[in-house]
Amino acid sequence: MKRIILFASGSGSNVENIVRYFEGHPAIEISAVLTNKRDAFVIDRCNKLGIPALYFNKSGFTGSSLVLQVLQCMDPDLIVLAGFLLKIPSELVTAFPKKIINIHPALLPKFGGKGMYGKHVHTAVKTQGESETGITIHFVNEHYDEGAIIRQFKVGISERDSVDQIAAKVQSLEHKHFPEVIEAILLDT
Ligand code: GAR
Repeated sequence: MKRIILFASGSGSNVENIVRYFEGHPAIEISAVLTNKRDAFVIDRCNKLGIPALYFNKSGFTGSSLVLQVLQCMDPDLIVLAGFLLKIPSELVTAFPKKIINIHPALLPKFGGKGMYGKHVHTAVKTQGESETGITIHFVNEHYDEGAIIRQFKVGISERDSVDQIAAKVQSLEHKHFPEVIEAILLDT
C-alpha cells in the first residue's frame, strides 16, 4: 500500500473528503493526520473517521524536529497539506523531495504568499474584481506557495458573488479534484 500523511490546521473538510475517497482503496491508505492546532475541528473529524491524529507544537516542528523523526519513521509516499497554515521547515522539504504537496485556494502565482490563506484569499480575489478564481495543487518548497504547479482548476465568479459564495465555489472544486490528483500522483497516472 502507498501511504499518505495529511497535515491540517483548521476545519478539515478536505481531510474528511480525502479520507472518505480512499476508504477501501486497494492501493492507497491514509496513515495519520498531523495538526499544529490542539483545538482544530479536524481532530473531531479524525475521531469520527477512526483516523489517528497527532498534535505537535512549534518546538516539535522547527529544525531537526520530532515531526521530522515521526515522518521518517512512518515513511509516507506522499505528505499532503490540506489546509495547513505553517511554513514547512527546510529540513522537511529536503528530507522528502517531491513528496510534499499543498492545495492553495486561488490560481497561483496570484493571491499567494504569507498571510494568504482561507478567507483572506477570497476577499483579495473579490477586491481585485477577478472574473475567475480556482485552486492550485503544487509541490512544496522553502517558500510559501512557490513550488512547481501540478494542476490548477478554474471557476468563474461575478461581481455579485459574496466572499462566502466565492469560498463555496472554491471548496467545491477542492473536494471534486484534490483526491483524484493525489491518486494520480501516487499511481503515476
Ligand atoms: C482550503 O480552502 C485550503 O485550500 C486552504 O485552507 C482551506 C482549508 O479548508 N489552504 C490555504 O489557504 C493554504 N494557504 P478545510 O480545513 O475545510 O479543508
